[in-house]
Amino acid sequence: MTATICGTGSYIPSYTMDNHEIAGMVDTSDEWIQERTGIVRRHIIQNETTVSMAAEAGRRALENGGVSAEEVDLILVSTISSNLILPCAACEVQKELGAVNATCFDLSAACTGFVLAYNTAMAYLLGGMYRTALVIGSESLSNLTNWKDRGTCILFGDGAGAAVIRLDASDKSVLESDGRSYLPVTHSDGGRGEALTCKSRHDFNGLTGEKHRHCPEDMMDASYYMQMDGQAVFKFAVKSVPEVIGEVLKLNRVDTRDITYYIMHQANRRIVEAVAKRLGEPMEKFPMNLKEYGNTSSASIPILLDEMNRKGRLKKGQKIVLAGFGAGLTWGASIVEWRR
Ligand code: ACO
Repeated sequence: MTATICGTGSYIPSYTMDNHEIAGMVDTSDEWIQERTGIVRRHIIQNETTVSMAAEAGRRALENGGVSAEEVDLILVSTISSNLILPCAACEVQKELGAVNATCFDLSAACTGFVLAYNTAMAYLLGGMYRTALVIGSESLSNLTNWKDRGTCILFGDGAGAAVIRLDASDKSVLESDGRSYLPVTHSDGGRGEALTCKSRHDFNGLTGEKHRHCPEDMMDASYYMQMDGQAVFKFAVKSVPEVIGEVLKLNRVDTRDITYYIMHQANRRIVEAVAKRLGEPMEKFPMNLKEYGNTSSASIPILLDEMNRKGRLKKGQKIVLAGFGAGLTWGASIVEWRR
């Protein structure tokens, strides 16, 4: 029994902010940002929300896969930046799409979120509980960005990406492919969580009447925005990502020669280049789009997957590695066989 991605979609806000604009807000330059990160611009929400982008990306993925909303059994939204605490973003997506038969919940694991949501959906599908899943990564990181901190505000952007995954239990499909289901490898290390943090803006005690934190003067407190030890995250990524990719290939007895693309979380061009070098793999196998979008956390992998799908770069039988890393710390990799 296998489950495969049969449709992808994405939604990118139309408003863009380029490096020159950021250089007018903090002490930085287009040259520095491009050289150190590879980012040229990022897209920022105006009227959109995390939920509205998730719903639109999901709608486009269903259209792309030729799957009706009623057929969806599971909707999973990976996000750290929902505009709602209740209801969960996935239930709002269900309402927007009319996916009345779906079970819906959100998942929070920062930039590894899409890989973990994909793995979660696969576990449900291969366990026989559901047949069709819609997995979405959607982020409005501009809401969590400290626009006075040049160490972080240059990095992040907004957007959403989605994939439809379907159980394919027909004999025909198993005959057409090798019929394998690949096991993922994932890790977490809460002990190193301080490298990338952001406090909740709702951490007040309503019973004792302790001061509500979500007020203008407290919003000046930088801890309510993303704070990052950039060098620590960089070192963690360039060591852990090649290791976890090596682990997932070994576990599934797949050779690097069998992998067509490594679709990595888009955080920094230098991280992607370092991972390619450590794996001894050519850069052509590492598609990138962070130049245009910056780091969109859990949305970055499905946005890139959707771009590649719509450009016709994904062909039947190709094996692709999805690799994420980020706050937590969390990291992981999964092998996807393209069977469309
Ligand atoms: N413009 C100009 N100078 C800057 C800027 C800036 N935007 N930011 C930092 N600097 C300065 C620093 O102050 C420092 O100056 P100093 O030498 O006088 O002290 C100098 O540049 C070097 O600073 P570093 O922090 O060492 O710069 P680095 O080369 O490491 O680049 C960066 C910083 C881009 C943040 C890099 O560390 C990085 O990409 N780290 C990984 C980030 C990442 O992937 N985060 C996302 C994880 S995913 C998630 O879960 C959300």
